[in-house]
Amino acid sequence: MTKFWSKWFRKFHRWIAIPTALAIPAALVIKLIGDPKIVAAWEKLDKIPSILMLIMALSGSYLYLLPYIVKGQRKKRIAISQPENRQTLKEI
Ligand code: HEM
Repeated sequence: MTKFWSKWFRKFHRWIAIPTALAIPAALVIKLIGDPKIVAAWEKLDKIPSILMLIMALSGSYLYLLPYIVKGQRKKRIAISQPENRQTLKEI
């Protein structure tokens, strides 16, 4: 199951990276130019870069924790299949 989630979270993180990488500099440029018409139009969409960053931070945190999750699951699987190794695994 972790394999399924890791694959999809990685794909999701990679694809959401594209609009995030476009939206953040776009928001900065719009604010720097400061044209009142464009700024007024942008105000409605102003939350998008923050929401994208939040999604990236959450999916990125999962990707960051993934090696530790996998390590824990592997230890548990070995402990179940080889009960004689339980003590050794506790020490790892
Ligand atoms: C707080 C925010 C973020 C966190 C915690 C985070 C964390 C991570 C982690 C842990 C990985 C996996 C690295 C690996 O296993 O080698 C990753 C991959 C990646 N991140 Fe992020 N990230 C964040 C934001 C972003 C942003 C803002 C972008 C781009 C706009 C981005 C683009 C990518 C890409 C393209 C990958 C490679 C995905 C793949 O393996 O195909 N990340 N990130």
